[in-house]
Amino acid sequence: FNVPTAINEPVKTYAPGSPEKAELLAMYKTMFNSNIDVPMHINGKEVRTGKTKNITPPHDHKHVVGQYHTAEKKHIDEAISTALAARAAWSSVSWEERATIFLKAAELLAGPYRAKMNAATMIGQSKNVHQAEIDAACETIDFLRFNVQYMIDIFKDQPASSPGIWNRVEYRPLEGFVYAISPFNFTAIAANLPSSAALMGNVVVWKPSDHQVYSAQVIVDLFKEAGLPDGVINVVFGDPVMISDTVLASRDFSGLHFTGSTEVFKNLWKQIGNNIHNYKTYPKIVGETGGKDFIWVHNSSNPLQVATAIVRGSFEYQGQKCSAASRAYVPASLWEEVKKHVIAQTNEIKMGSPEDTDNFVNAVIHEGSFDKIASFIDAAKAGKDAEIIVGGNHDKSVGYFIEPTVILAKSPTYTTMTTELFGPVMTVFIYEDEAWEASLKLVDESTEYALTGAIFSNDRYIVEKASKALENAAGNFYINDKPTGAVVGQQPFGGARASGTNDKAGSAQNLLRWTSARLIKETF
Ligand code: SER
Repeated sequence: FNVPTAINEPVKTYAPGSPEKAELLAMYKTMFNSNIDVPMHINGKEVRTGKTKNITPPHDHKHVVGQYHTAEKKHIDEAISTALAARAAWSSVSWEERATIFLKAAELLAGPYRAKMNAATMIGQSKNVHQAEIDAACETIDFLRFNVQYMIDIFKDQPASSPGIWNRVEYRPLEGFVYAISPFNFTAIAANLPSSAALMGNVVVWKPSDHQVYSAQVIVDLFKEAGLPDGVINVVFGDPVMISDTVLASRDFSGLHFTGSTEVFKNLWKQIGNNIHNYKTYPKIVGETGGKDFIWVHNSSNPLQVATAIVRGSFEYQGQKCSAASRAYVPASLWEEVKKHVIAQTNEIKMGSPEDTDNFVNAVIHEGSFDKIASFIDAAKAGKDAEIIVGGNHDKSVGYFIEPTVILAKSPTYTTMTTELFGPVMTVFIYEDEAWEASLKLVDESTEYALTGAIFSNDRYIVEKASKALENAAGNFYINDKPTGAVVGQQPFGGARASGTNDKAGSAQNLLRWTSARLIKETF
């Protein structure tokens, strides 16, 4: 069990004039101007169906950087049968050998693949250099390294034995295959959903988001170079309904590893329930879904610290992190000071294409998302129930750009206080200082979600009261810090209620879901 100790990959700064910055921007340019053709990957073979869709950067949506091939039902059937055919060999590969593949992938990504993975994420998902680095490079590397450590933690968990009797647990992979559905917003999550299950010896059918195809291709190349055998992770693109219908109809479907919307996850769960009599084994269902993440502020907190948390927590990656803050509750006595700093900091933000590294905010992911967010902003502008404090403009002529926007709501149930927008919009509600306990109830009860949340106070009594009042309101709970930026190995990530099954990404608990343990009692 003496595997290399996992450490967090240091975040590169890409300082002006640094060689890594020059390398990354050169890579960005080359990749932006190349015409990539992204096949599906079934049994290690590139599958080109000819039914293609364009890959366009969200910040320059008329520019086509390539195409990806989409599946018909027969390709999904093939991905499933291929995975199952690979299962016997993969599940009998020793854990050490499986670990070497993913540890090698981590080191390849820390070195030769880093610029490529970051550039693909910047182009395809519109992330700035820093957001790409902490996601596509560092968080992915951390998942790969720490998961090996968590696997060992699981193996070490063994029952007691006695002379003449040896009890032991074998952590077997699931009997069947795992279906991974990943979102656009984190390249690291896309890499982790299939690879965590595969590390535990499972075979996988992986459907990445249509809006993360460019970096998905780099992930495939990375795992291949690291030595992942053909057929272990099979990648398919296309119509999510057809793909899920086909996968979930298989008798051998044995696990769902999902990150995406609450509605899609609930529908998949229902579908699994409807098919339950067909399955060989009860499928494991793991999902991280929606959120309406909060910042709650007490008047004992520091207004500048609060303002910085609001701006960074709400606007980094255009508010498209599952962890992004999107509602804040601020005491009346602190609001003017907080507002002053929020406006000043937001006005300093530059918005535009990621290849200009001064741009802190880039484009939102696609037109549907842009239109939804813009319509809520416009309604706030037009109505009497809210007021725009800063931002509020949007323009989709070149890219899907939405200014970081702060809305002040008159009511704690105003639409943007309770609806998940997944964009750079923060809504603030001001409460009377003495009503702080009632405001905690609002935080807890205004939405169905419980992903992340942050409280700000420098009074220990208040911190304790708020932590208790909000004990079920967030799976990741931050005291005096923004609610984004969970680091693998430090803050395992996941929420409850309508935000997910809370099987923390980056934990032994998550990996345990991809095993089916056999207890062996041997008597001598
Ligand atoms: N690490 C991310 C965050 O907390 C989520 O994957 O923002």
